[in-house]
Amino acid sequence: MNRTKIAGIGFHVPERVVTNDDLAQHMDTNDQWIRERTGIEERRFAKKHEETTTTLAVKACEIAIERAGITKDDVDFIIFATLSPDYYFPGCGVLLQRALGIKDVGALDIRNQCSGFIYGLSVADQFIKTGMYKNILLVGAEFHSCGLDFTTRGRGVSVIFGDGAGAVVLQPTQEEGKGILTTHLHSDWTGAEQLAYINQGCHGGHWLDEEKAAQYGYPDADGLGGIFITQEMLDGGHTYPNMNGKHVFKFAVTKFPEVIGEALFATNLDTTDIDMLIPHQANLRISQFVQKILGLPDEKVWNNIQKYGNTTAASIPIALCEAFEAGKVKDGDLVCLAAFGSGFTWGSALIRW
Ligand code: UT7
Repeated sequence: MNRTKIAGIGFHVPERVVTNDDLAQHMDTNDQWIRERTGIEERRFAKKHEETTTTLAVKACEIAIERAGITKDDVDFIIFATLSPDYYFPGCGVLLQRALGIKDVGALDIRNQCSGFIYGLSVADQFIKTGMYKNILLVGAEFHSCGLDFTTRGRGVSVIFGDGAGAVVLQPTQEEGKGILTTHLHSDWTGAEQLAYINQGCHGGHWLDEEKAAQYGYPDADGLGGIFITQEMLDGGHTYPNMNGKHVFKFAVTKFPEVIGEALFATNLDTTDIDMLIPHQANLRISQFVQKILGLPDEKVWNNIQKYGNTTAASIPIALCEAFEAGKVKDGDLVCLAAFGSGFTWGSALIRW
């Protein structure tokens, strides 16, 4: 059976740099708090009304396609992972297809937040291994800054996230031992509301009891519904994502090592075999914790949250691309990808480059 290789990779981040001090102009926060708790020094914000999640993705995809040595007409399937799509529907997959001028190949949208890229990679891997597709374009892209609460009320969430996109072209390979060796996907509904954007959903009110409905800003859980925004929701900040940071943190530091261990076990490899770990960039403290548990030296872990913040579905392909461009991911290296985030969802992948 074929294996799947990453034939081309690219990333794009918006030009505008937003420092921690810039954010402190709008809310009660400071550079020291953000650096100490998250490692973030700055992030990129896209231009509202000019850029979208899809336009960021297009630039990353063009680089990945060129590096794969193909043209966009060779792409036979598109997978787009994002939690901040241009439209509620249709998904960004078709918008990317239109922007690139790719004819009527399938376009799949992935809704797995921080794990979206690994979920997409795993799906693509199955299609390639079975021989169904030969050039899958997989992209993770986010335009967070258009939907965050930049008042002090939202500081626990808004200082963390940044905008950007990363893309890969996936192809079959017959090279002995090379390509994606294994992928592992998990989810756990118990954390569904711990990191969520609830009020944009059209059915959220149906399962809430009265108390929860009030808590999340749905005044009438039994109403005829649809999407509705009330003044109460606006006043209460219920039109923004919410996160129970400490709860998410505790789960993340458990699940990252667990799912990496699972991938190593499945391939009969050991932590010492890993040449480069690319963790989803959620928090530098989380990455450092995982690094310590695995006993990896600094040069075997790639972190760039300092520059870009948490770019959710884009964070792994951006980090992987940077590591590749810096010559830190070389032919024959064992690369480990791992992510954890909203859902909760988490996953890992091992790739022999
Ligand atoms: O990628 C998706 C997965 N997401 C994650 O993995 C995120 C996981 N969680 C985290 O990274 C951390 O929990 C945070 C960085 C979000 C928060 O760090 P923390 O150490 O858990 O802080 P905290 O939420 O417990 O807040 C500590 C204090 C609070 O004040 P009091 O109650 O102690 O007076 C907050 O109100 O810090 C305050 N605070 C802030 N202060 C300045 C919260 N946000 C800020 C802020 N600036 N931006």
